[in-house]
Amino acid sequence: MSGLTVRAPAKINLHLGVGALREDGFHPLVTVYQAIGLYDDLTVREAPGWTLGVDLPGWMPADAVPTGGENIVDKAADLLAAHHGIERTGEVHIAKAIPVAGGMAGGSADAAAALVALDRLWEVRTPDEDLLALAAQLGSDVPFALLGGTALGTGRGELVDPVPDRGTWWWVVVPAEVGLSTPEVYRHFDRMFPDAPADPVPADALLRAIADADAWALADALHNDLEAPAVDLRPELGALIEAGESAGALRGIVSGSGPTCVFLCGSADHARSLAADLSGAGHPVVLAANGPVAGAHLVSYA
Ligand code: C5P
Repeated sequence: MSGLTVRAPAKINLHLGVGALREDGFHPLVTVYQAIGLYDDLTVREAPGWTLGVDLPGWMPADAVPTGGENIVDKAADLLAAHHGIERTGEVHIAKAIPVAGGMAGGSADAAAALVALDRLWEVRTPDEDLLALAAQLGSDVPFALLGGTALGTGRGELVDPVPDRGTWWWVVVPAEVGLSTPEVYRHFDRMFPDAPADPVPADALLRAIADADAWALADALHNDLEAPAVDLRPELGALIEAGESAGALRGIVSGSGPTCVFLCGSADHARSLAADLSGAGHPVVLAANGPVAGAHLVSYA
C-alpha cells in the first residue's frame, strides 16, 4: 500500500466537571465528550525518511501549526514506531479544518489520525487497547479522538466509555481569531477556584438529557467549569454567548478550555439560520456541524 487518508473529528465537551489540581499537575475530570462533524484529514505516504506538511484554511494564521519536528503528530509517530521497535518513516500531510488552540482538540485529532494511519501504513496491526494506551500518553483527549461518538471521560479525561446516543445534535461553532492555551486556562481555574472540591461535578443531568434525546433538557444541562476562567481571560466570549442566545440558540457555551464557542440548535435549518445571523453580525468564521460522529477512521487510499 502506498498511502491513505484518515479523518479525525473535533470534540466538544457537553459536560466538563473539573476537580482540584492533582499532584501530577493534571485536574481530575468528569466530562462528556461529543465528536462533531468538523474534521482534520491526515494523509500518509510511503517515503524513505520522515516529513510533515500542513495545509491551513485561509482563516487560520499561516504559523498556527508547528512543522519543525515538535508537532504532536511527530510524537505520535515516534511512540508508535518505538512500540513496535521500527523506524519512523512516511510523508505526512495534514489538511486542517479544526480550529488550532481552540478547545476542540484539533491537535489530539491529528495525533489520533496519525496513530490509525501509520498503523496501517506500517502494517503493524496494533491492538485497540495498545492504541488507546499510546493515545493517552500523547494527551488527555487523544483516546476520545480515536473513539468518537459521545463518551464519558474520567481520570484526567483519558479514560473513555462510550455513551449510547440516538440523538442528532446540531451545533454552530464560532472560533476565535487568537487561540487560548489549555494549561493557562486550567491555571486560571486554580486561581479563581482555590477551594475547588477534589471530586468533579457529576454528569447525571447531562447523561439523562442524552438518554432522552431531549434538546431542551440538553440545553439546560450543558456545563463547563472552564467557562468562567476562559471568559475571565477573554471577556468578549461572554458577549458572544449572549449574542448567540439572543439570536435564538437553545444555549451557548465555551468549548472545553476555549476560546471557541458552540451553540446548540434544534435542527439543521436552525443551525444554518443561526450561523447566517452570527456571520451577518460580523463574526468572520462561523461553522455548523452535527454530532455525534465517528472517531478517527480511514476514508481513502492515496
Ligand atoms: O493532556 P494534555 O496534553 O492535553 O494536557 C495539556 C495541559 O492541560 C496539561 O499539561 C495540564 O496543564 C492541563 N490539563 C489539566 N488537567 C487535565 C487535562 C489537561 O490540568 N485533566
